[in-house]
Amino acid sequence: MAEDLTITTSTDKEEQYRSLIPQITALIEGEPDMVANLANICAALKEQFKWLWVGFYLVKGEELVLGPFQGPVACTRIAKGKGVCGTAWQQEKTLIVPDVDEFPGHIACSSASRSEIVVPLFYNGEVVGVLDADSENPTQFDEVDARWLEQVVKLVNFNE
Ligand code: SME
Repeated sequence: MAEDLTITTSTDKEEQYRSLIPQITALIEGEPDMVANLANICAALKEQFKWLWVGFYLVKGEELVLGPFQGPVACTRIAKGKGVCGTAWQQEKTLIVPDVDEFPGHIACSSASRSEIVVPLFYNGEVVGVLDADSENPTQFDEVDARWLEQVVKLVNFNE
């Protein structure tokens, strides 16, 4: 497995994802441990995109519990239907939040966060976790991020 990441200096988002996804695939290929793979996915995304925060929350009972992440310390538990993460879980779909102040019930783990995207992670048709990314810039995330990040979470081999 390659442990060095090649970071593209392209400012084109499509190009950045196109360069990163095969590297993420190679990073986690052959490694059965889910936490190890989630950790490396966060590190790779953080290195390429320099977002404020990127990480996973995993479903445990009726809550999401903080998993591997990169960035400032974050809230550890989020109830189903609460915040952007709990809402994405409940609605079973990707949520793009261009302005966190406009999202009713947004949970501010960091006051520096201005925009956010949350992508559910499915296993056997059920949401088993979410990938959450936060940015200090408003309107950071769009359909391009949604499309590529949905591919990223599909690479995860879920196991408890
Ligand atoms: N903002 C999220 C909480 C998680 S942190 O951003 C890391 C939410 O509203 O669910």
